[in-house]
Amino acid sequence: EKGGYDYFMLKEIAEQPKAVADTLLGRIGADGRLTLDEIRIPDRALREADKIVIVGCGTAFHAGLIAKYAIEHWTRIPCEVELASEFRYRDPILDRRTLVVAISQSGETMDTLMALRHAREQGSRVLAICNTNGSTIPRESDAVLYTHAGPEVAVASTKAFLTQLVACYLVALYLGQVRQTKWGDEIGAVVRQLADSGRLVEQVLHTMEPVRELARSLADARSVLFLGRHVGYPVALEGALKLKELAYMHAEGFAAGELKHGPIALIEDGLPVVVVVPSPQGRSVLHDKIVSNIQEVRARGARTIVVAEEGDTAVEPYADHLIRVPAVPTLLQPLVATVPLQVFACELATAKGHEVDQPRNLAKSVTVE
Ligand code: F6R
Repeated sequence: EKGGYDYFMLKEIAEQPKAVADTLLGRIGADGRLTLDEIRIPDRALREADKIVIVGCGTAFHAGLIAKYAIEHWTRIPCEVELASEFRYRDPILDRRTLVVAISQSGETMDTLMALRHAREQGSRVLAICNTNGSTIPRESDAVLYTHAGPEVAVASTKAFLTQLVACYLVALYLGQVRQTKWGDEIGAVVRQLADSGRLVEQVLHTMEPVRELARSLADARSVLFLGRHVGYPVALEGALKLKELAYMHAEGFAAGELKHGPIALIEDGLPVVVVVPSPQGRSVLHDKIVSNIQEVRARGARTIVVAEEGDTAVEPYADHLIRVPAVPTLLQPLVATVPLQVFACELATAKGHEVDQPRNLAKSVTVE
């Protein structure tokens, strides 16, 4: 049942190109137009929505954080993302024109379910992004966009996360299409790259041996930090979460710009710091800033592990270890940049002798609040 792999997690990491392709299947036409028939929310309601609120927990929350960058940039609709467990207890402002997006692999997470019930009581429409057919969250939502990752058995989410990202990108682009957002040339390229993203993930998977080797060499590290900017920030959070839950190590993700506001005090000799570098194309300010951040931590003794796109030579002098990912538009980069971090956490945990499919104290679906 593990298809020749030692762990479900390894199998599920390897299945990501197919999971991504399956989630895209039939949803992007040859002309680049999107068909999301399952979204039974009338176009009129999608046009009238004046705010989007995304809720989820853990990895699903990280997918939501990335979605916010895409939704606001592509559609200019204000978007908030909130941990489902915090959402309803702070009396959020919701009404009929708020579109709530609830992201959940299992469809049974109680925190997310309670958040969506609260939203519906306030008259908001709820769109679920879910991997489990017929589960409670899609049943109680106004509409559902299924991710087609297939069953995810390992407790740590991998392929479900990438497909949640795909679904979020599709929703963002669909909103733009329905609302006739005035798009420049950028969007055509984004849609083409998204349609091709399964192949790009496959490409990343073929280059993971050095990442595994590096992970094994860090099995005795006490702590690992992850830094990112823009969509690389939630990717950093996700990389840290994987390491905590699988390797039981202290790991933290930071927005690289926050370094100087506190976390830089943590840097000491030999501390591994993973940095997710945005594409240098089109957003060179962002890129320059993160290159400075890499220099700052390295000057204080950090061992830098840099995830950067092919051809980005500016990072080379400051990277103790360089992990290359294919060049894609910045907003799509999480699809490729997350994969090495999953492999890293899985391999490091295995090197420490941990059971990666069943980390201690965790359950696959959390059905209590
Ligand atoms: C992390 C992980 C959890 C889940 C979270 C939400 O690897 O698996 O953080 O992402 O419990 O679960 P779902 O998506 O089923 O609502």
